[in-house]
Amino acid sequence: MRIAWGPQYELGILVIDQQHKRIVDYINALDQLVGLPDAYQGVARILYDLVDYTESHFSFEEALMERAGYKETDEHHNVHRKFTMRIEALLRSSENGEDVAEALLQLLEKWLLHHILEEDRAYADEVRDFINSIGRERLGGWVNDNVRKHFRVS
Ligand SMILES: [Fe+2]
Repeated sequence: MRIAWGPQYELGILVIDQQHKRIVDYINALDQLVGLPDAYQGVARILYDLVDYTESHFSFEEALMERAGYKETDEHHNVHRKFTMRIEALLRSSENGEDVAEALLQLLEKWLLHHILEEDRAYADEVRDFINSIGRERLGGWVNDNVRKHFRVS
């Protein structure tokens, strides 16, 4: 396993933690395929799903920050956008037949974990307070609607 998910990566916001863990699951699945003979199709598929899921997660996360009134949402959005441009460049190289799986794994591993531990942690208290103040049940409907809105697959 490339990344062992653990409590050190949890923000205490269930829906976000589940999405982060899912990205880590994708990274581990991709890592297992890389280097296997005839893995090209499988790698291409996971690569695509991983990028798609990560981008969906970013827009969901931004919507949640905005809903919670987090002041640094725009800055966080810019961080996401820069990263999205990097992974999309890799995806395009992959579509052109280049083997980018290892480069993408390294980028995600390094960037994502740093991002969760630093920038995401910066919004966690405020968003958690917001969720507690309106009540988890009341947020449930919003979460369902926005998962449907931002994710192609949930
Ligand atoms: Fe983020």
